[in-house]
Amino acid sequence: MKKFTISMLVVGAIALCGVAMSPLTATADDDAAGGKCFRTKFDTTMTKDACAKGGQGEAKKVWKAFVTEAKKTEATLACKTCHTKMGPEFPLEKDALDHYKKLGGK
Ligand code: HEC
Repeated sequence: MKKFTISMLVVGAIALCGVAMSPLTATADDDAAGGKCFRTKFDTTMTKDACAKGGQGEAKKVWKAFVTEAKKTEATLACKTCHTKMGPEFPLEKDALDHYKKLGGK
């Protein structure tokens, strides 16, 4: 039983180290946080800014926040409403950009 407790502590300490280190690696190298965005030209300032700031990981974050907010207007909205595939290139449905603008996106 004692042995079990100690090994749990070791595992916990290692996990804590990982958590403590991750913000450092993310700022040191954007690629570590999921890589750059696929697009290099953007039609939306939201995506452009997010990609510049933190690559595709940050873009996913802002899109999730956007969809959460936009669901108040359109309850059935999902990533798949506008994206035919969820990564790595996030290809768009034909009306995706119009749809985004209609929902108040910039
Ligand atoms: C209303 C339509 C719409 C919805 C819903 C939507 N997206 Fe998008 N998404 C777009 C458009 C349009 C672009 C292209 C943006 C640009 O050109 O600036 C895009 C781009 C992206 C990109 C950038 C990809 C790259 O590397 O170039 C990511 C990541 C992304 N979306 C993730 C998501 C996720 C995750 C969700 C769901 C939580 C989501 N999107 C929901 C329309 C949408």
